[in-house]
Amino acid sequence: MADGSLSSGSDPRRSLVHRVFVAGAGIMGSGIAAQAASKGYAVTLEDVSEEFARRGLDNARRALEHAAKRGTIGSAAVEETIGRIDIAIGLRRAEGADIVIEAAPENLELKRQLFRELSAVVGPTTILATNTSSLPVTSIASAATDPSRVVGLHFFNPVLQMELVELIPGVHTRPDVVERAAEFARSLGKTVVTSKDTPGFVTTRAMAVMGNEAAWMLYEGIATRDDIDAAYQLGFHHPMGPFALLDLVGLDTTVAILDVLWDGFRDSKYRTCPLLRSMVAAGKLGRKSGAGFYDYPPKASTG
Ligand SMILES: NC(=O)c1ccc[n+]([C@@H]2O[C@H](COP(=O)([O-])OP(=O)(O)OC[C@H]3O[C@@H](n4cnc5c(N)ncnc54)[C@H](O)[C@@H]3O)[C@@H](O)[C@H]2O)c1
Repeated sequence: MADGSLSSGSDPRRSLVHRVFVAGAGIMGSGIAAQAASKGYAVTLEDVSEEFARRGLDNARRALEHAAKRGTIGSAAVEETIGRIDIAIGLRRAEGADIVIEAAPENLELKRQLFRELSAVVGPTTILATNTSSLPVTSIASAATDPSRVVGLHFFNPVLQMELVELIPGVHTRPDVVERAAEFARSLGKTVVTSKDTPGFVTTRAMAVMGNEAAWMLYEGIATRDDIDAAYQLGFHHPMGPFALLDLVGLDTTVAILDVLWDGFRDSKYRTCPLLRSMVAAGKLGRKSGAGFYDYPPKASTG
């Protein structure tokens, strides 16, 4: 049961959630697991193989150690918190969970399949949440036996540091499920904003349009990369410029999101800048490929 000992948000004991099951132990799943465990919840972190689940647990530990270095949690809390996370392969252990948070890759068919399988495992009151950043929650939910228990709960990266959670009820989501999911997110110390289930919600739509507009300005020769990045940073107090952010998010991901927005709205403001498409075709995806709008040379080996 959640003891709330590390909580600075609302008290987990007020929440009806005690056991958390996270499906997908990648960047987001490991962060969500670390966050929930740091607030006292018992967490199962699941992936398709032991190797991936262990890697997720290692990443959760690293994130907690980083938080301890920043002083946001005590160093003794790292081991205590990690002790609340166990790993699993396959969905069977979702059986006893009060909330499942799906953090598998951003692929509609994959997520629908997961919600189909989860429906056969979980108890009658389990909340099924998806961490999708752009896909329609209602389309994911419709694969579940009971779509009224499915809700979007969109965390941000890195989870331990980012304050926001976007809450997205689907068409069928019951009000009590929305309230329980919001209460759970608040118990993690997050601030919750609610968005209707439209493509990209609030944040992903804003991010994609901002990055696309910056790419158009560069493409049209309005200003240089560095001047556009400086303009956003110094003019709007953004912590990083749009090109640095595009590189962080991934240009392929951004183009995919713009395509989701175009498919959903058919509005020309979501017309993807050709510069983004040609950079993706050239393999310049941003940080993850070593080059995007900026270069990211591999760190020199110390060995
Ligand atoms: N990366 C971000 O900055 C970010 C931010 C907010 C939301 N999101 C969303 O979170 C979700 C996960 O993104 P990520 O960046 O953590 O991806 P990731 O690729 O780092 O992790 C996904 C994990 O899911 C696992 N997986 C694949 N199929 C699975 C299955 N059937 N069952 C269980 N696990 C499975 C993979 O092995 C992998 O470990 C996506 O929907 C993404 O859009 C990502």
